[in-house]
Amino acid sequence: MADFVEIFEVGPRDGLQNEARQIATSDKIALVDCLSEAGFARIECASFVSPKWVPQMADSAEVLAGISRSHGVSYAALTPNLKGLERAFAAKADEVAIFGAASEGFSRANINASIDESLARFVPVSAAAKAAGVPMRGYVSCVVECPYDGAVAPGAVARVVAALRDMGCYEVSLGDTIGRGRPEAVDAMLSAVLNELPAERLAGHFHDTGGMALANVDVALARGLRVFDAAVGGLGGCPYAPGAAGNVATEAVHDHVSALGYETGLDRETLSQAAQMARAMRSA
Ligand code: HMG
Ligand code: MG
Repeated sequence: MADFVEIFEVGPRDGLQNEARQIATSDKIALVDCLSEAGFARIECASFVSPKWVPQMADSAEVLAGISRSHGVSYAALTPNLKGLERAFAAKADEVAIFGAASEGFSRANINASIDESLARFVPVSAAAKAAGVPMRGYVSCVVECPYDGAVAPGAVARVVAALRDMGCYEVSLGDTIGRGRPEAVDAMLSAVLNELPAERLAGHFHDTGGMALANVDVALARGLRVFDAAVGGLGGCPYAPGAAGNVATEAVHDHVSALGYETGLDRETLSQAAQMARAMRSA
């Protein structure tokens, strides 16, 4: 049997959060519904952050209320603090995610806290998620390059990964937030991180600014990772990471890993439809 690679679809969140134009809630719901049909097990479609910081995600509760939930699909949401977690619980997100960074400059710009302050803030969030029995994922941003601080040391990434593990994150996603990571740097980072968490509990989250995302997927595959975050149509970026282009496109990761002999469980035709919808949102 072919080895399985899971693509964790982040387009409705990481993709759309970066669009300046207000996208209709009904369009977001239609996109998530199409993605549910494509066969994803996990779709990130909400972000309960401050609406002043990211206005595009202000309708996250309406999106979660409006989608047709498919059996077996986990609809995920970002939760930066207890207030976000309460909103995610109220909206019945199936899983939540806390998100930190390996560089001080990005941590400050993105969540208005130093790395240590953010980790302290996540402790009660993780405890409350655990008490409610809601699975929690972790993100580490800027795992190789930071738009403010430059190159990031692998040890700094490993430290944050260990903290998220200790808080109970079932998986930690490693973000090349500005898509400038070269494969050698990604490999060195993974070597350090794997001392803290096994490959089965890690995900690669590569933005494609420098056109290196698929090469970085290859490096991560060689290190044993089998989960990759991606966004249909290559939507996205991060409003607090200047120059960050889209996430690597889901269909590109699908085609790439399929050519290598992996199964993804996704329906390629439905994926193309979703990518078309996503691109229309971007260019409209
Ligand atoms: P702050 O200003 O320090 O927060 O922001 P605060 O606690 O002082 O609150 C300020 C105001 O925001 C208050 O309202 C709060 O009630 C409100 P006011 O009294 O002024 O009317 N507030 C909230 N409202 C709704 N939901 C909440 C919430 N929290 C506070 N959860 C904060 C700190 C973390 C809230 C802010 O910095 C923030 O929301 N940041 C999020 C930025 C963001 O969403 N970035 C993109 C996602 S991360 C990403 O894309 C990277 C990733 O893809 C991986 C990768 O690529 O590397 C995951
Ligand atoms: Mg991202």
